[in-house]
Amino acid sequence: MQGLKLLHGGDYNPEQWLDRPDILAQDIELMKKARVNTVTLGVFSWSALEPQEGMYTLDWLADIIHNLYANGIRTILATPSAARPAWLAHKYPEVRRVRADRVRELYNRRQNYCYTSPLYRDKVRRIDQKLAQRFGSDPAVILWHISNEMGGDCHCELCQAEFRRWLQARYGSLQALNKAWNARFWSHDYTVWEQIESPAPQGENAVQALALDWKRFVSDRHIDFLKFERDTVKELAPDAKFTANMMYRFDGIDYFKMAKEIDVASWDNYPTWHKPTETVEETALDTAMMHDLFYSMKGKPFLLMESSPSFTNWQPISKQKKPGIAELAALQTVAHGADSVLYFQWRASRGAEEKFHGAVVGHDGRQDARAFTETVQVGEKLEKLSEITAVQREKQALIVHDWQNKWALEGSCGPRNAGLGYWDELKRHYNALARAGIAVEFGDETADLTGYRLVVVPMLYLLTDAFAKKLCDFAQSGGTIVVTYWTGVVDESDLCRLGDTPYGLTKLLGLRRTEIDGMYDGETRRCTPVDGCTLPETQASILCEVAVHNDNDPAKPLCVYAEDYFAQHPAAAVHKYGAGRAYYLASRFDEDFYRTFYRDAAKELGLTPAWPQPLPAGVLAVKRGNFVLVQNCTEQPVTVGERELPRYGTAVWNESQCVL
Ligand code: GAL
Repeated sequence: MQGLKLLHGGDYNPEQWLDRPDILAQDIELMKKARVNTVTLGVFSWSALEPQEGMYTLDWLADIIHNLYANGIRTILATPSAARPAWLAHKYPEVRRVRADRVRELYNRRQNYCYTSPLYRDKVRRIDQKLAQRFGSDPAVILWHISNEMGGDCHCELCQAEFRRWLQARYGSLQALNKAWNARFWSHDYTVWEQIESPAPQGENAVQALALDWKRFVSDRHIDFLKFERDTVKELAPDAKFTANMMYRFDGIDYFKMAKEIDVASWDNYPTWHKPTETVEETALDTAMMHDLFYSMKGKPFLLMESSPSFTNWQPISKQKKPGIAELAALQTVAHGADSVLYFQWRASRGAEEKFHGAVVGHDGRQDARAFTETVQVGEKLEKLSEITAVQREKQALIVHDWQNKWALEGSCGPRNAGLGYWDELKRHYNALARAGIAVEFGDETADLTGYRLVVVPMLYLLTDAFAKKLCDFAQSGGTIVVTYWTGVVDESDLCRLGDTPYGLTKLLGLRRTEIDGMYDGETRRCTPVDGCTLPETQASILCEVAVHNDNDPAKPLCVYAEDYFAQHPAAAVHKYGAGRAYYLASRFDEDFYRTFYRDAAKELGLTPAWPQPLPAGVLAVKRGNFVLVQNCTEQPVTVGERELPRYGTAVWNESQCVL
């Protein structure tokens, strides 16, 4: 979005108000007051754009786009494929998904089309072509938004056949597939491709490599559908730029792979603020981790495509954002590398599922409503920060997050089937680094590690040969690596590694795993630091690994288990390797442990924190280029530098000048 100001605005659904010109006129007036400069149009507009098969009505959309543009507001234009009209789903049943239990759905809801159906693709192609012909070179349209929040899977016959083709391309022969899936187990050798079916509750669900390949296949199908829509538009609009909106901790698509097919990453952010179990700082960190993940998608500024100015209507409790939280969240987004603050939605709809969802303009249409006045304030602040647009972040630490690993890790029956808390593991490393003011990015096993000083490898159960080597090379040439328990267990087919584990990393770590113990909820094992180590005493939980050090080049223990038959085995250890070093963490520890661990590691590595002095607890600092944003996520005012920050307040410095 180079050259544009920070985008401010959001999803706008004028198709719900075409019989109310007074409301459409008021929208423009209120958007200008709220400093809105961008709206997203067309996300679910198909039935208004093609009310009957082959009858296209795009004039209303053109009028809206041009009227907005004349008032200084640009458009992100969505393709409408996420929700199809009733006529289409009724006339062509093949466009409706078949569930895992092999029942075809009735016409319902949205985001549930069969991505393989040639018929659906044909209908989508036609409507996308109409949009591209009409708006492909329109200066009012700054970005194309493909579909909406892609996800889910379809088990129809078309998808089964496509899955088998996908497997043929991956394995070449059934013999190779049987070997990769260890199909001899329980006599599962496949003798013809047609015997292979997607996982089902009443069917196959024990061949874990099949389930892993199904997830890969479904992810590839979504990406293929995205490419198909992108290329349809691009053919008629060669200069068009594309995004697809992604979701919080979404499991169903390998977003790193998907991000390669778009120009700018974007995501939809709906944190649950003010939960009794979480402080504002903890919720802010949870969101920050996602912002950093989406920044990492392309290693450059991303867009916040949706957020609520007030509350949602689909979370268990629809909590209002307290005064100040909307601004805190908006500025946090920008701090972490977003070039936009966009809302769902501009105006609340009158009926159906989302009628009670928060919106900038509510049913009363009032300008003195809190959601509206706070949006105006955010708009004013974003205008003051416009120079931050397109500014990149410094590379410091990288946490490995790999979708294929997560699928394999969670898809296996193993030492703990009561939940592995994958995201909780990542969060502990992330929070400690973020609290220390260190910039964090994420990467999968294909990531280029150049430029990072610290690489964290949490629960990398599925570790490829190539990535194991890359990690060793990184340490060899001076990098620091942190490897946790349950890493380096299987290969890309979910086949257990033979020989010593963590596979490929035993020399790097100076030790090898001998066993791993699953822990009951609430069960812990005490760990104590060795003499001279500044790490705190801590408790191990979830999974406890036992490791023994290599005889000829041993790791140096930092903490040891202090209980049970685990006593004296390393809970944390460090090992010099080449010009760098590798840390090993044998279990999941208390949050305090990670705070000290990463604060000390950052110091030792010479990583410069975003704010030079220690900050009060609950105050977070983030650096973006020369800008430093400091946010008070506590309930009390605090003083930072010369500035007094009210609760939830943000101060921004550019170089050493305070600009906000
Ligand atoms: C998003 C979706 C929007 C809207 C919003 C409500 O997931 O993309 O269309 O439904 O949730 O919070």
